[in-house]
Amino acid sequence: MSSETIYRAIAIDGPAASGKSTVAKQLAKQLGLIMVNSGAMYRAIAWKVKQEGIDPQKNTLVEASLEKWDLSCEVVDGASVILVNGVNPGDALREKEVNAIVSTIAAIPKVRDCLLSKQREFLHIGDLVMEGRDIGTVIFPNTPYKFFITASEKVRASRRSAEGLTDQVAERDRQDSQRKTAPLRAAEDAVVIDSSEMTISEVVDTVKAKLKERGWEQR
Ligand code: CDP
Ligand code: CDP
Repeated sequence: MSSETIYRAIAIDGPAASGKSTVAKQLAKQLGLIMVNSGAMYRAIAWKVKQEGIDPQKNTLVEASLEKWDLSCEVVDGASVILVNGVNPGDALREKEVNAIVSTIAAIPKVRDCLLSKQREFLHIGDLVMEGRDIGTVIFPNTPYKFFITASEKVRASRRSAEGLTDQVAERDRQDSQRKTAPLRAAEDAVVIDSSEMTISEVVDTVKAKLKERGWEQR
């Protein structure tokens, strides 16, 4: 493709354990897109805050540390990876200690500012699907391809525990929805999908059908 190619973004937002990552991964595989997990970026900062023993409630301390850390994003095997001072936290991103503080960290406006530009940069690389909380509302507000995937709180909690993970999904959703900067909400023009009683493939197929309706053509 020429250097003038304008790449496209598919935005998938929704609450914790609604199935965003699983659906985004399958969509990326089927449509040949870069898969970007924006939550992993917030988790990486939360992980480093925890590692350094910084109080996550002290915004100024977190902000000062953030300036010193080198956060770099890469695409490895078609998916985003974030490195903090050259280290990929890997599975540690899903630890319960990270779950417990990530929403506090994600509510700090400077943290969001820092990640906003990094997230938008992925669009220079290729067509992508990015999942998170504010992708359709803040990161790529102009894309016509926006989805908000949800599921009942009960279903989401049971999906997490079926994975053997400790995660207060309701508490995270409360914090994510109530923060002032870029709260969790569906964009006005997002397709809302309640996945409580749907299989993953049903959700993926629904997304693909809606993409077509909105003019997506496979390149
Ligand atoms: O996978 P799960 O839905 O449990 O969470 P995640 O997508 O890994 O996101 C972890 C946390 O990062 C969320 O609870 C939010 O606090 C924050 N986040 C955000 O604020 N904005 C995003 N675009 C993505 C995640
Ligand atoms: O990324 P997010 O936190 O929204 O959710 P996920 O990590 O993709 O999905 C959480 C769990 O729910 C995974 O184990 C999925 O396999 C499962 N899931 C499901 O059982 N049915 C769906 N329709 C979607 C996800």
